[in-house]
Amino acid sequence: NHFKEQTVNTDIVWHQSAVARQQRERQNRHRSFILWFTGLSGAGKSTLANRVEELLFQNGCRTYVLDGDNVRHGLCRDLGFSPDERRENIRRVGETAKLFMDAGVIVLTAFISPFSEDRDMVRALVESGDFIEVYCNTPLHVCERRDTKGLYRRARRGEIADFTGISSPYQAPLSPDLEVPTGRRGLEECAAMVVGFLAERGKVP
Ligand code: PPS
Repeated sequence: NHFKEQTVNTDIVWHQSAVARQQRERQNRHRSFILWFTGLSGAGKSTLANRVEELLFQNGCRTYVLDGDNVRHGLCRDLGFSPDERRENIRRVGETAKLFMDAGVIVLTAFISPFSEDRDMVRALVESGDFIEVYCNTPLHVCERRDTKGLYRRARRGEIADFTGISSPYQAPLSPDLEVPTGRRGLEECAAMVVGFLAERGKVP
């Protein structure tokens, strides 16, 4: 593992910001939190996260989507798909999501995040209740049949190493906050499930 872990520079002190998260939340008229979508490639994470964002945004919430395909073009452009690199990817995304949350924003993240340990690492970064894990449950055979990007076909041919579900594991959440049947139900129904869940728990107005 060539990524330094847990190195704390003692010359750096934490600077308290003049405007607190709570004040931002009050001004926004809603709480901020991280809505963490996990699932196989092609499970529908990005599509669902973006639709849920749209619904929340239309409802007057401050929102932002962090997406694997986009983040890997910038912040995480140096990372591949080995277990260590995925962990570093998720760590950076988790820290970024936490900053957005501090800024009063509802952050929706769409990453495969295949390892339970890595998801738990992000959960541990924030207060309980600020990390909501949403399992986009589309079975492998459905993802593979959809194969929207043609990646499964290439992975089966051995052209992509460490491909999730084929040559790298996906550890499904054992007790997600919410499980959405993205393989069996349409987008609108799934999005309504997520928004309904948030409203029920008083997370959004
Ligand atoms: S991870 O595991 O959370 O770090 O992955 P993530 O950042 O979400 O990136 C997943 C997208 O990268 C493409 N891709 C791969 N996925 C899995 N395994 C391998 N080896 C791989 N190589 C490229 C793929 O398009 C994923 O997109 P989604 O949106 O999940 O389908």
